[in-house]
Amino acid sequence: MSILSKNRFTITSALPYANGPLHIGHLAGAYIPADIFVRFLRLNNKEVVFVCGSDEHGAAITIKAKKEGVTPREIIDKYNKQIKDSFEDFGIDFDIYHRTSEQVHHELSQEFFLNLYEKGEFIEKFSEQYYDEEFHQFLADRYIVGTCPHCHNDGAYGDQCEKCGTSLNPTDLINPKSTLSGKTPILKETKHWYLPLDKYQPWLEKWLIEGKRQELKSNVFGQCQSWLKSGLQPRSMTRDLDWGVDVPLEEAKGKKLYVWLDAPIGYISATKQWALDNGKDWETYWKKQANPADESTLIHFIGKDNIVFHCIIFPAILHAHGEYILPENVPANEFLNLEGDKLSTSRNHAVWLHDYLAEFPGKQDELRYVLSSILPETSDSEFTWKDFQSRVNNELVAILGNFVNRVMVLSHKYFAGKVSLGSALTTQDQSVLSELASFPKDIEQSIGQYRFREALSHFMNAARLGNKYLADEEPWKVYKEDQERVKTVLYVASQIVANLAVLAQPFLPRTATKLFAMLNLTAQSWDRAGLATLISEGHDLGEAVLLFEKITDEQVAFQLEKLANAKAQNAANSAQAEPAKANISYDDFMKMDIRIGTILEAEKVAKTKKLLKLKIDTGIDQRTVVSGIAEYFAPEDIVGKQVSILVNLEPREIKGITSQGMILMAEDADGRLDFVHPTSAIKPGSSVR
Ligand code: 2FM
Ligand code: ZN
Repeated sequence: MSILSKNRFTITSALPYANGPLHIGHLAGAYIPADIFVRFLRLNNKEVVFVCGSDEHGAAITIKAKKEGVTPREIIDKYNKQIKDSFEDFGIDFDIYHRTSEQVHHELSQEFFLNLYEKGEFIEKFSEQYYDEEFHQFLADRYIVGTCPHCHNDGAYGDQCEKCGTSLNPTDLINPKSTLSGKTPILKETKHWYLPLDKYQPWLEKWLIEGKRQELKSNVFGQCQSWLKSGLQPRSMTRDLDWGVDVPLEEAKGKKLYVWLDAPIGYISATKQWALDNGKDWETYWKKQANPADESTLIHFIGKDNIVFHCIIFPAILHAHGEYILPENVPANEFLNLEGDKLSTSRNHAVWLHDYLAEFPGKQDELRYVLSSILPETSDSEFTWKDFQSRVNNELVAILGNFVNRVMVLSHKYFAGKVSLGSALTTQDQSVLSELASFPKDIEQSIGQYRFREALSHFMNAARLGNKYLADEEPWKVYKEDQERVKTVLYVASQIVANLAVLAQPFLPRTATKLFAMLNLTAQSWDRAGLATLISEGHDLGEAVLLFEKITDEQVAFQLEKLANAKAQNAANSAQAEPAKANISYDDFMKMDIRIGTILEAEKVAKTKKLLKLKIDTGIDQRTVVSGIAEYFAPEDIVGKQVSILVNLEPREIKGITSQGMILMAEDADGRLDFVHPTSAIKPGSSVR
């Protein structure tokens, strides 16, 4: 069914944490696709609300505040402003960019909690949790560090060891310490309210797995299926924290709502505020209606790390509440990499949006174009500055800009900018115009299936059609003999330019505005696209302006140097190798039985980012080892590789898999891993001494 068969839409983009600036990875994940989609719907005169805002609660904020030695309020005010300004300047066209620290949001989140509470939806459970006696507070998982019971990393957090990737409970840590006081925390009893996700599992299976198999993108469907397959567990919706939305119960004084309960409600409170400001009824965008045909179509644009929250947890909450509509689709994108490496805020390996906007003023559409061409729609993709340069220079400048410029310049030069039909249209003209008429449908189909890269390439094909038409007709040569024919060629070419203006609007909004001004036309809605009469006989074109400029080698070099400097800075920061550990005896060393093994099989461990399950031929046997290397090695790339393996390490259970031994890895200060392996093939089972 075409997306255009619906009338009202509620479109959300993930609320970014207000703890740092935006980078191109954010744009390519949840914002550019949503913005293209929304602009397309608006061009089709649909009723749309497009909401976003800052996610201002949770450990993401308090940890950043602690790091910078300021209050959480200072952090959210600083980054909310920076993020909001960058979005505005870049041209992501939200109806409202709200904040979860606003009163209206706190009230709505509490209302949601109470609704579920009063219906008896929560399970109340007591558990023992770490408590810092000096700071008089319970410790969120990220506020506890200790030694990982699996890999003995000293800096493991209460929820995860980032070194081996294992997810942990705070009580799993050996020698836990509070990051607030540095002291050993005590265990203290506390009560929390759990959402019984297991209870909703049958409903989720029906609604999501049976009901949405066809519509969800395969990357999204796959993740949902794997979560449901491993069985959902109750999840606590409250936390012992001092920053967030208060749990609205007398007996829960000092407790806050779990950030992943309040954040998605942020979409609703943003809509509520927008409706208040604009005399609208927010409920028509969020609540079920007497006639289902009147209900809004809810679509969440997010990055892949948020899939479980938007496909499982938030729908379960909406379902439990009962009055709300459910998402129609969650077109999550995968991740964008930069220059062969992951984008990293902490390593400053990023293209920051505010930097780009300052360094490339007026070039918003160039970045939109390049990112739209490489959106990580089905798998991770990569941004490089060389590719940015080549897409701008060889596509925007050489194809789109060049075509429009030739039509404008020739029209002004030969006919003082007046468009008129000279001699009759030839069959060639007619076939070009009928091809032109096919683009809007193609684009509509791709956008309706969330294939924005494909949609953009249809648009560029329309520009290619124009270029080819001019190259075939060569009006500059014909002019001497047949001016009437040249009038017609430029008439046809002007219709193509006018169509490009209409079609560009979802993808390149600033360029579309420039095109309409050049054509001396007002902006046109989508139903006009494809027409061969957008410019009428005798119409006067406006002034030609340059649409795009080439990106120079110097600009690319400057950006690459910035990234290299960030890398050098990181290296300098971590140049100091860790000091050696205390001496051990030769006998202690000899207790370790390290062998050369060969990887026979490798696969990802479900629901983890970092773990691979490996089958190793150790020469002694074939055994399973779970290793935290998934972020650095693809399973298919390492089968057949030889590795060093500690074979007499006590077996341990990781994610329900018995891991028998440990692969030795070299790790640099940035946490990058590589194998320790022989330089030539050696028999499995050979000892490492
Ligand atoms: O992952 C994140 O950046 C979260 N702040 C996304 C929240 S999306 C929504 F639920 F609000
Ligand atoms: Zn570990």
